[in-house]
Amino acid sequence: MPTKKIAVIGGGTMGSGISLTAATNGIHAVVVDVNEVQLSKAKMYHEKQCARAVLKERMTQEESDVAVSKLSYVSSMQEAEGVDWAIEAATENVAIKKKLFIQMQDTFEDSVVLATNTSSISITDLASAVPEAEHRVIGMHFFNPVPVMKLVEVIKGKKTSEETTAATIALSESMGKIPVPANDFAGFVSNRVLMPMINEAFHAWSDGVAEPEDIDSIMKLGCAFPMGPLRLADYIGLDVCRDIMMVMYEGLNQNEKYLPNEKLVALVEAGNLGDKSGQGVFNYEKG
Ligand code: 3HC
Repeated sequence: MPTKKIAVIGGGTMGSGISLTAATNGIHAVVVDVNEVQLSKAKMYHEKQCARAVLKERMTQEESDVAVSKLSYVSSMQEAEGVDWAIEAATENVAIKKKLFIQMQDTFEDSVVLATNTSSISITDLASAVPEAEHRVIGMHFFNPVPVMKLVEVIKGKKTSEETTAATIALSESMGKIPVPANDFAGFVSNRVLMPMINEAFHAWSDGVAEPEDIDSIMKLGCAFPMGPLRLADYIGLDVCRDIMMVMYEGLNQNEKYLPNEKLVALVEAGNLGDKSGQGVFNYEKG
């Protein structure tokens, strides 16, 4: 049976994007976040994007109103009633995610798939937090900005059932995405390839190979990247990049090639996280 109503756990950038994409494709989405500020930011983002879609003639006013009506915002999982799917999109931290998985298992019906948008953490490890529901746990990794990026990286854990996998592929397609499988290694495929490239751009900057603007221009003009690697790091969040590198370092035999660059770590420790804090490698305070 097609998925009709999903709970999106976390109203940050990824959670907002996933819920918007569901709603614009006819699926009800309930955003769950304990942080009221985050919830109202998610709502503002949804309304702005729907209004923009009308302005750009990608949607009629009526379609936009329907999409907005399919979105709701609550501060606890218990308030997300009647969902047939849950996707966790919280901070990239194993302990936090495991706690949320236990709550998801306790709250939602036994038939509900428990998906995670983790960008790097082992699905099998996360599933071990909910032994009775392991067959319903799966990685459903979206990309930022979710409404624009076509991919969903689909990662099965050791005990994920074929039924859960098939349903994940079906839901991804009904959200207008292209699901592609990857195996359950730290960082999967996307971040195993992307993050060392971003980290290497920091090494090139640290070694004085070029200034950040020039590193990015070289990669944009020479490799047709839509954003240079340092601009992309700010866009993703420098803290997220550091955390993903650390998950890969720990999860891939503590191979030193996955250690985050010192400049990257220093920026994070100084609170310069990229777009979201107004300062990262580049400054965004003046937009
Ligand atoms: N939400 C919805 N739509 C958005 C958006 C957002 N946050 N940001 C941009 N868009 C839409 C715009 O509305 C616009 O569509 P329109 O012209 O029809 O209105 C379209 O995208 C293009 O946007 P802009 O004209 O503002 O800007 P650009 O042409 O420069 O594109 C970009 C912006 C799509 C972000 C492009 O620069 C890009 O593709 N960058 C690379 C992004 C990327 O690599 N993402 C993956 C990150 S890795 C990840 O997410 C995995 C994680 O695990 C780390």
